[in-house]
Amino acid sequence: MRKQIVAGNWKMNTTPAEGAELAKAVAELSKETSANVSLIVAPPFTHLCSVSEALKGSKVALSAQNCADQAKGAYTGEVSAQMIASLGASYVILGHSERREYYGETSETLNKKMALAYANNLAPIYCVGEKLEERESEKHFDVVRAQIEEVVFQLTPEQFDQLIIAYEPVWAIGTGKTATADQAQEMHAYIRSVLAEKFGDKANNCSILYGGSCKPSNAKELFAKADVDGGLIGGASLVASDFIAIAKSF
Ligand code: PGA
Repeated sequence: MRKQIVAGNWKMNTTPAEGAELAKAVAELSKETSANVSLIVAPPFTHLCSVSEALKGSKVALSAQNCADQAKGAYTGEVSAQMIASLGASYVILGHSERREYYGETSETLNKKMALAYANNLAPIYCVGEKLEERESEKHFDVVRAQIEEVVFQLTPEQFDQLIIAYEPVWAIGTGKTATADQAQEMHAYIRSVLAEKFGDKANNCSILYGGSCKPSNAKELFAKADVDGGLIGGASLVASDFIAIAKSF
């Protein structure tokens, strides 16, 4: 059976003190969630250490939101996969649309980041998704296929086993406009079929999360779909009770 996963992407929100409080609250409330549901939080780099501490002894795993595309050295302002892993993170979000859009991340950059993530035992949460104009011109399947072929198809089968994918239609992120459950299911099933072209039956074991204005009020309908294995949650992950309510929506 595929893992059910709810991951919180805090983005550039909270001070370190607020982040530690939020993590403590999530860790406490996580006791109410089903053992079948895995929880992950992805705070800013500056909070990894204190959030890691706050999550100790709980079921909640730690992720970073990004990592450098170089292993170490003279790259001012960057944070390496090794540094992240050494603070207790097990995951790293890669290819988020905000990274692609605002920081010019290409598949070439992402391939380097993926390699470094795996080399440091960080499982990537790889994000794909189309922009509004791409959906309106019916290019959404092609866009998502390219994002998968250019990056995920470069992985070995063993690396693919560790991968989580998040489908996040860019027009739904932070806009309050959610994809309908049918739109999500349609794309998730498509993604799984593309993955199967390369990885065969292993595609059935890959958790594909939905992201984009997922909240307690719509999570149940989304998670009820056959190929929606959980969510990557932005805004609603900043309120512990909302995040946990989403995790209880399977
Ligand atoms: P949102 O963000 O839930 O605030 O729409 C989701 C994401 O970008 O991961």
